Amino acid sequence: MEQQKKFIPALRFKWLTPVYDFFISITMPEKKIKKALISDTNIYAGAKLLDFGCGTATLTIMAKQSSPEAKVTGIDVDKEILEKATKKIKEERLDIFLFDYDGKHLPFQRNAFDRVISCLVFHHLDTDVKQNMLAEIFRVMNKDGELVIADFGRSKSWIQRMLFNMIRSLDGFKSTDANARGLLPEMISDAGFENVGIKNRFKTMFGEVQIISAKKI
Ligand SMILES: C[S@@+](CC[C@H](N)C(=O)[O-])C[C@H]1O[C@@H](n2cnc3c(N)ncnc32)[C@H](O)[C@@H]1O
Repeated sequence: MEQQKKFIPALRFKWLTPVYDFFISITMPEKKIKKALISDTNIYAGAKLLDFGCGTATLTIMAKQSSPEAKVTGIDVDKEILEKATKKIKEERLDIFLFDYDGKHLPFQRNAFDRVISCLVFHHLDTDVKQNMLAEIFRVMNKDGELVIADFGRSKSWIQRMLFNMIRSLDGFKSTDANARGLLPEMISDAGFENVGIKNRFKTMFGEVQIISAKKI
């Protein structure tokens, strides 16, 4: 029997997944954040790119459309959300590979990807899961590979820090703890990445979303 996977769904409750795309598009500068993430990623023709926690594949599709010659893969722990992603990819007639997995081990070999991107996923992961998944991303990434993550971070603005409490009370104080304390860049370094830095900051009605980039040297 398949072991029950533990994860926080896109909008906290599975029954809200069908409205995820609509909700995020009206409550966040979603396209602006995703465009900035892609432009910070430096995707080249032939690059093997993984979108970790791809959800409904909005970012995955944007990445493929920005670099049609890249080999784009999305992975998520939630099988149901991947059904929606599959439908959107079919509608766009794009060649994108989708995988679900056990939430622990990425089903790829060492050095399988040149670029790994991830948007609004890490605040869903408890600190030990964050550490494990960063190690997994490091393992599957090629030397000279780049990781670009967009997620909530500690803002200098107290208003943004207060607003992030809304997400924290919804998604959980445990999974959002390292985000609230601004520890994500340090955790990325601890996983072995270098040149870790915050490239961009976006104020949103749920707190500050930061774009962090890093390299595997
Ligand atoms: C807020 S949604 C973001 C989806 C997409 N990246 C986007 O920007 O629209 C968070 C996603 O993380 C996924 N997720 C949660 N835990 C995960 C894990 N351990 N591994 C991979 N994905 C996970 C959820 O299933 C969900 O699709």
